[in-house]
Formats: sequence, structure tokens, C-alpha cells
Amino acid sequence: MIKVEHLSKRFGALEVLKDVNVLISQGEVISIIGPSGSGKSTLLRCLNLLERPSGGQIEIAGQDILAPGAKVPELRRRMGMVFQSFNLFAHLTALENLTIGPVRLLGQRRAMAEAAGLELLKMVGLAEKADSFPDELSGGQQQRVAIARCLSMEPEIILFDEPTSALDPTMVGEVLAVIRRLARQGMTMAIVTHEMEFARDVSTRVLYLDQGAIYEEGTPTQLFDTPRRERTQDFIGKVRSLSCHVASADFDRYAIFGQIEQFCEKHVLTAQTARTVQQLAEALLAIHAARPGPVDIDFVMAYSEQRRTLELRVDSAGAPGNPLDDPQAPGGPGRALIDNAAADLVYTRLGDRNRVTMRLKSLELPAIGT
Ligand SMILES: Nc1ncnc2c1ncn2[C@@H]1O[C@H](COP(=O)(O)OP(=O)(O)OP(=O)(O)O)[C@@H](O)[C@H]1O
Ligand SMILES: [Mg+2]
Repeated sequence: MIKVEHLSKRFGALEVLKDVNVLISQGEVISIIGPSGSGKSTLLRCLNLLERPSGGQIEIAGQDILAPGAKVPELRRRMGMVFQSFNLFAHLTALENLTIGPVRLLGQRRAMAEAAGLELLKMVGLAEKADSFPDELSGGQQQRVAIARCLSMEPEIILFDEPTSALDPTMVGEVLAVIRRLARQGMTMAIVTHEMEFARDVSTRVLYLDQGAIYEEGTPTQLFDTPRRERTQDFIGKVRSLSCHVASADFDRYAIFGQIEQFCEKHVLTAQTARTVQQLAEALLAIHAARPGPVDIDFVMAYSEQRRTLELRVDSAGAPGNPLDDPQAPGGPGRALIDNAAADLVYTRLGDRNRVTMRLKSLELPAIGT
């Protein structure tokens, strides 16, 4: 029903979507998840041409919507969109919000549009609010009217951009219930959401968007239970991370120590843990920086709330080989600290960089050496 190929979108120098490829079939419910700024809203906005893509193709039901002469208003009508901020007409009642489109744009007779509008309000549980104005409705009710308004245009697919994220937590459920009902009725939908449990049970497929591309996709079970790629695993496992770049052997260790301390405070890790990580960072960075050649090191500290694990990763430029075993940069006492604290220590070569990953044995390790 929708075919997107090599879609790209840039705002000036900022490349927001790089190379997005998606096929959405009729009746599918696609959830789109991913970090803030990864391009989720931009992707939806490109699909219904609220943004003009910079490159690539979008076909809707076999029609190329980017071709010159494409009937954009008609194509847009076939694709409803529901936004985070309900966007109702404030000066119109709930029912009038639902009839204005069909009357003005579809040429429906008013009486018919009103009858259909009332049916839709009933469907979203708001028949008794037909004559209320938006500011007389709660956020959850306004969003349900917005969904009904979208349906009044008889779309073939609905795009939702975080439909519940502006709502009070008590009202999230009523809006999700309406979307679930649409899913059961076979409506084709693409939903950007941060509600992972909802995405899991409503979708036929989940797309994980990261840095402007679809980084991984699969069924909800695949993507949520056994994500295959690293950034998906980090996102799903609610991993919070801190990264620092080091470009000289005389790096500012106190700046890094400060960041580690702040990170630990923010994630309620003990002061003891912060001290241990500071010592390990110092040892790891010193060994890496002592290797011959230019210093180009990334230090990452990643904490998984779900698994309660803390991982330290060091990526560095240089000849292949585990920097911790480099005879030209002997680790000395630092190496003993590392071995002592690591539950496991893994070396991998990634492209032209070396990566050392260590998982800490325990988050309550006693301070080492002091
Ligand atoms: N009209 C615009 N002009 C310039 N930059 C924009 C515009 N719209 C979006 N961007 C930028 O594009 C990037 C992606 O934005 P987008 O809103 O698509 O992200 P998102 O994945 O929806 O994030 P969030 O989860 O926070 O809603 C961001 O860096 C944003 O600042
Ligand atoms: Mg967004």
C-alpha cells in the first residue's frame, strides 16, 4: 500500500533521514520507535507531504506521490494524521470538528456528515460531548475527537505521531483503547510511540529508527525480546550511556571523573561505584593512550537499568590487537585493577578500530587500591 524507497530529507546541512526503505501493506499496524531526534516525526511528515523529501520515492497504492502533477490534496486525504497536540479547531464543537472536512472537502451533505460524525463520536465513546468545545474536554477526550475527525475523512491509512505523549498519564489508556479498536477493525496504521507495551501488543511490525535510517525491524517479539543489533539492544534495554572522547595522552582526567560522578548520581549508582569506574577509566585510558601512534579514543560507560549491569567500552584507533595486551604499553597496576573488577573482558576489531568491552562484576564493588 505504501512503498518508500531511499527516502532522504535534509534541513540545510542537517541530514535527518538518510536512506529509509519501508513497505507497508494493507491492514498492517506499524510502530515506529527510536531515540529523540532520530527522524520519526520527519518520516511521517514526509509520507503525507507535510515535508517535501530531498530524495527517494514514495508510492501510495501504486501512485508516485512525488511525481510532478501528482494529486497531492487527494493523496493527503487518503492518509489521516493524528498529532501529539490534538490540533482541533477551538471555535468549533466536537461534532462540527468532524463535519467541516467532509462537507467542505468531500462535498458531503450536512445532514449526512452529521449522522456519520455522531456515529464516529459514539465509536470513540464521546457521543454525549457532541456539542462541547475543545476547551471543555479533557486532553484524552480531545485526542479521541481528533481521531474521530481523522476517520471522518475516510482515510485508508492513519499516521499517528506520539498520540499520547501530551496526555496526563491517567488519560493515556482511553486513547490507546481507541487505537487498539481501530487495529482490530483492520485499519492500516503507522504509529510513532514511546509506549513500548502498547507497541508490542498492537503492532504487526516494529521499526527501530536510529540516526535517520531504519536500523532494525521485525515482529514485536523479535525486536523487543531478541533485538539483533547493538543500538537496538541499548534502546530496548533502556541503556543510559556516557561517552567521552580523548585525543591526547594529557587528556583532562578530572573532567571525565566529574562526568562519571554526575552520571552515577543521576542513575542512583553509589558513590562507591562512581569511584570504581573513575579508577577503571583512568587505568583503561592510560593504557590506551600509551600506545604508539596518534591518540584517538572513545570511552563509553553504559548502564542498563533493566539488567542492572554496567559496561565500560573503549574504542581506539591503531594497529589491530588488544591494547590491553600491547607489550609496548604495559598495563602495570592499572591492568590488575581491570582484571580484578571485570566479570568479562572482550576484545573485538570493528572496522579500523579496536574495542575493549568490560562488564563490571558488581555495582557494589569496594573501592580498589585505596
Ligand atoms: N523544520 C525543521 N527544520 C530544521 N530542522 C528540523 C526540522 N524538523 C526537524 N528538524 C530536525 O530534524 C531532526 C529529527 O527531528 P524529528 O522531529 O523527526 O525527530 P523525532 O525522532 O520525531 O524526535 P522526538 O522523539 O523528539 O519527537 C532533529 O534534529 C530536528 O531538530
Ligand atoms: Mg517526533
